[in-house]
Amino acid sequence: MNDKLGLPVGTTLDRFIMRKQEDFPFATGELSQLLRDIALAAKIVNREINRAGLLDVTGAYGQQNVQGEDQQKLDVIANIRFIRALRNGGEVCTIVSEEEDDVIQTGNTKGKYIVAIDPLDGSSNIDVNVSIGTIFSIYRRVSDNCTDGTMDDCLQSGTRQVAAGYVIYGSSTMMVYTTGNGVNGFTYDLTLGEFFLSHPNICTPKTGNIYSINEGSFNSFPEGVKQYVNYCKDNSYSARYIGSLVADFHRNLLKGGIYMYPQTAKAPNGKLRLMYECNALAFIVEQAGGKATNGSRRIMELVPTELHQRCPLFIGSTEMVEKVEEYLKAEVEVN
Ligand code: AHG
Ligand code: MN
Ligand code: MN
Repeated sequence: MNDKLGLPVGTTLDRFIMRKQEDFPFATGELSQLLRDIALAAKIVNREINRAGLLDVTGAYGQQNVQGEDQQKLDVIANIRFIRALRNGGEVCTIVSEEEDDVIQTGNTKGKYIVAIDPLDGSSNIDVNVSIGTIFSIYRRVSDNCTDGTMDDCLQSGTRQVAAGYVIYGSSTMMVYTTGNGVNGFTYDLTLGEFFLSHPNICTPKTGNIYSINEGSFNSFPEGVKQYVNYCKDNSYSARYIGSLVADFHRNLLKGGIYMYPQTAKAPNGKLRLMYECNALAFIVEQAGGKATNGSRRIMELVPTELHQRCPLFIGSTEMVEKVEEYLKAEVEVN
């Protein structure tokens, strides 16, 4: 099995990135270096996660992030590791992180890129040895070089992503990313300290029979979502929800399925963050042949107005996302 360029399974991530770059005659190598920086930080975070139980880095950090959520120690560690790698790499002028109230200026004013990142996704699962992840989006700055990045640089719609990906720290650790020409997955070999191409040219099934949603909030779902969940049950779909978006998404991407986080009483705009959770996964799912919407609009076309903006998310196999959209549309028409 090969990727679209004919690179075989087993190609190292570094070599893969380098070969991709050769296809763009004017590429400067900065995006390639940035992707390698992310992979390096992911290896370090992977090490911390693997030893979490031994290092006293499980549990709460004792502070909340800007969104009022309790930070876990590993949230803070992962945030530090990724910021350090991106700052040292030199290609990024500004970082938007779930764990930081404001943007982080790296001081690399010549850096062409903006990174939006959820350093550790699924933090409630850290202490219980369940898969967690990292999600990232990369944008090219729109302001002139030689200054700090601006708000306009950060608040770009998902359609302007130049690359996006996630790392899943699971039964094995993987990095999956796209630069807009298909999706490829790399598995980490701990003994060699390298990511290797293991899932070339990932294509998600058009439909599936897995639905992932926190059904504990069923009573406050929009009517259309309730009806779709009942439709899933009527058709004996499998319910799978682990509570780490990356893990739920990754499973559904490979097997076919839908992940939903709608508006609820507790989270009136949904819970997930547009800039560093929804957009990256939307780019990946579309590149794999799937779909991502907020129930009526394409996620990647939403223009963020604030850094930590939330939005409802319906993402996965195209036919399943379209089905829930139909129910939601019918609900609007009735009202
Ligand atoms: P994070 O740990 O980065 O704050 O994200 C948690 C998110 C996501 O990973 C997961 O799917 C969702 O929260 C789970 O929320 P509920 O517990 O409300 O289902
Ligand atoms: Mn998250
Ligand atoms: Mn997080």
